[in-house]
Amino acid sequence: MGGMKVLVVGATGLLGSEICEKLVAKGHKVRALVRPTSDPARIERLRSMGVELVTGDLKDPRSLEKACHGEEAVISTASSTLSRQPGDSIESVDRDGTTNLIDAAKKERVGRFIFTSFSGKFEEPSPLRDAKRGVEEHLKRSGLEDTILRPTYFMEVWLGPALGFDYAKSSAVIYGAGERKLSWVSFRNVAEFAVEALEKPSARNRLIELGGPQPLSPLEAVRIFERQSGKKFEVKHVPEEALRQQHSAAPDPLQKSFAALMLDYAGGDNVSMTEVLREFPVKLTSVEEYARAVTAPDPKK
Ligand SMILES: NC(=O)c1ccc[n+]([C@@H]2O[C@H](COP(=O)([O-])OP(=O)(O)OC[C@H]3O[C@@H](n4cnc5c(N)ncnc54)[C@H](OP(=O)(O)O)[C@@H]3O)[C@@H](O)[C@H]2O)c1
Repeated sequence: MGGMKVLVVGATGLLGSEICEKLVAKGHKVRALVRPTSDPARIERLRSMGVELVTGDLKDPRSLEKACHGEEAVISTASSTLSRQPGDSIESVDRDGTTNLIDAAKKERVGRFIFTSFSGKFEEPSPLRDAKRGVEEHLKRSGLEDTILRPTYFMEVWLGPALGFDYAKSSAVIYGAGERKLSWVSFRNVAEFAVEALEKPSARNRLIELGGPQPLSPLEAVRIFERQSGKKFEVKHVPEEALRQQHSAAPDPLQKSFAALMLDYAGGDNVSMTEVLREFPVKLTSVEEYARAVTAPDPKK
């Protein structure tokens, strides 16, 4: 199957831009919601792929109706947790904005809606968890044919420099003792599942938990990086007690949500992919493959 008209919201982000690329490669007609403030290089990348650009904002319901007009499916990956403008918050974007988008899709008779939520094991109370679960419920009640993707931690983010796993400097921040296993997943695989979910009728009205090929503790992940890079890592732990303290004393919804994610990380998240892979044949990237790619010497140097 090919050639569906798909609106991607979050298209300038890490996951959304990968989804756009994969959709275009499979012959779908992709429209992306962008903002005047979105990174020009990311907008240009979408344009050069042949993606149609529409301007809008999740906080502006009219713009969403226009963006949904004539589309057959919406894929939403947007979140204010990392990419924020004034007025953006977990409440205004992740909760109310995504709810606006579902309502706009319904009004414009878009048949399919694929929502990027997060793992069912992310259970620590937080505004982000409330937003994700609230949107899931709203979507299920909407009457749209939905797919809810529930990925666990992206390896490129949580085993990456932005969150203290600085492999270039052979140093790693670990949340908690680092002994409980997590099914680190590549955002590129999550993008493949989003495209599969769009194309496969069996993905309709489904909730799909997504992880990588093998659960590994953060300390095991460090060892893999040490082997691949040939360098010993300096490991710093943020003790669970300190995370608990950050969680209860968090001054705003964003910090509360990050503290909750770190506590959930410390608790582990082992996702079995056997059933899902039987239906959706995606080749899952391992932490080892990821570590090999990012620690490989730069051929230009
Ligand atoms: N990182 C993980 O480990 C992880 C795990 C599980 C689930 N997830 C989920 O995966 C999804 C994708 O993550 P990501 O890493 O791709 O995020 P990202 O790179 O931060 O991208 C976020 C996107 O949301 C857009 N956005 C933010 N506020 C908006 C608004 N008011 N109106 C319209 N668009 C808005 C941004 O647009 P601009 O460029 O214009 O700001 C950007 O395109 C998120 O929903 C996240 O919760 C992530």
